[in-house]
Amino acid sequence: MSSGTGKITYVSLFADESIHPAYERALKDVADRYFGRHYPMYIGGREVFSGDGEFEERSPIDSSIVVGYFQKGNAVHMSQAIEEAKARFAEWSGLDWRERVNIMRKAAQLIDERKFEIAAVITYEAGKNRTEALAECWEAIDALRYYAGIMEENRGYVRDMGPGGPGERCKMVARPYGVWVVISPFNFPFMLANGMILGALITGNTVVFKPTSETPLSGLLLYQVFRDAGVPAGAINYVTGPGEAFEGEITSNPDVAGIAFTGSKDVGMRLYRRFTSSQPYPKPIVLEMGSKNPTIVTDKADIRKGVQGVVRAAFGYCGQKCSATSRLYLQKGIKSRFLEELVREASALKVGDPRRREVFMGPVINRRAVENFRRYVEMAKRDGGEILYGGEVLSGGEWEKGYYVQPTIIDKLPRDHILFKQELFLPILLVSEFETLEEALREANNTEYGLTAGIFSEDPREVEFFFNKIEFGVAYANRRGGATTGAWPGAQTFVGWKASGATGKGIGGPHYLLTFLREQSQTNVVEG
Ligand code: SIN
Repeated sequence: MSSGTGKITYVSLFADESIHPAYERALKDVADRYFGRHYPMYIGGREVFSGDGEFEERSPIDSSIVVGYFQKGNAVHMSQAIEEAKARFAEWSGLDWRERVNIMRKAAQLIDERKFEIAAVITYEAGKNRTEALAECWEAIDALRYYAGIMEENRGYVRDMGPGGPGERCKMVARPYGVWVVISPFNFPFMLANGMILGALITGNTVVFKPTSETPLSGLLLYQVFRDAGVPAGAINYVTGPGEAFEGEITSNPDVAGIAFTGSKDVGMRLYRRFTSSQPYPKPIVLEMGSKNPTIVTDKADIRKGVQGVVRAAFGYCGQKCSATSRLYLQKGIKSRFLEELVREASALKVGDPRRREVFMGPVINRRAVENFRRYVEMAKRDGGEILYGGEVLSGGEWEKGYYVQPTIIDKLPRDHILFKQELFLPILLVSEFETLEEALREANNTEYGLTAGIFSEDPREVEFFFNKIEFGVAYANRRGGATTGAWPGAQTFVGWKASGATGKGIGGPHYLLTFLREQSQTNVVEG
């Protein structure tokens, strides 16, 4: 499959005609090449099969499609992988940083060459449509290239300092920590894993990578990219299986130097508590834990722009992005006009098999997500919510064997309702009305989360006020391509505040690599 096709981002989601035959060929190729097979783990470069058996992965598009059988790894496998990563640390961290940078650039090139195959696998595993899946590949490519550039800009994080006293030659040298365990989610199975892994590897750490059990094949393709680009066996390891089987080992093994996790707040906080209490001294933990993102639309908004931005952000990839808009605050004067247009747009969205070109929303990730959808809609109805659009689970025809639900817009729930507080990770958008921008900001900030937030207003003073007052890490104004979604490496730092993140530094931004590095100050006193 050839490279060279124009870049797709989440904001443009524009694809030139040439992608369609290549992607459609890849849909067929990956089914022939990968599906229904038995996959090992890779520990120290060796194929490892588990005595605990395998788990079966089926596609959310159509549950009769068996993607593959993956190993049910356990604590012993995790411990072996940590040992391998530890054994390789001296060699990998000892490489000249420029060589690691070259390997990361090579990884970017390999993703570019394999992007249709990877995107097709993402579609089957995660249920993404083609433009979202290809944008994810492009995001991974750009992240690798961006951080190769950041390493160069910072000259490998070696900097002359001082002098602090007579004859002192002072330097700051940033060094890697050691072995990092990387745990990735289903919603960006390639890109989010890629971000955490590249952050650890490019800075000289070694990695044990555990993808979520919903998307292990995308994880395997990513492992292969790094391996084929030249990361030595053992410097990256790939283990699969249920998180519970590994958690004790990950948090208590003294050879784990750091954890990078993206996923739910419950799991992230549990890892955080166990890691900080089980290790002999403080160690870094990088967490990205979702959110409950608001978009504010004022009376001074361009309604058309706002509707497009909200539809993309609330219903793109079925609301299963950490950045999805799930709370919509509308100023009184535009509320009814905005909702009318929003409902019209939402009802025109094509929901179905994401392998089809015209589909905007594919399936949600699994049966549990459908059950949650039903439960939340019932809860909303019971507690006074008015369903303006959607609310139904879809069945029959192309929906029969997968997990399909309608984009859903709910008005009139009280602002302190649990659905306004809890992350739902579904295409459910809650609406609330406000009188003043101060009030809207108070409500927008009234959450324990703090990842992304958006505003639509053509008044620069309102936009400025929003930027000054919003307590979220990623803030957007007037973004037609995604009111709160679609951060891109080198353009937006994807950083969560409060319960959304742990470090205050985000993937895609200039300081991310520092989370994987510790400073060493070197002072050499040269007499005379
Ligand atoms: C995510 O990580 O959930 C999405 C990134 C984005 O949409 O900005």
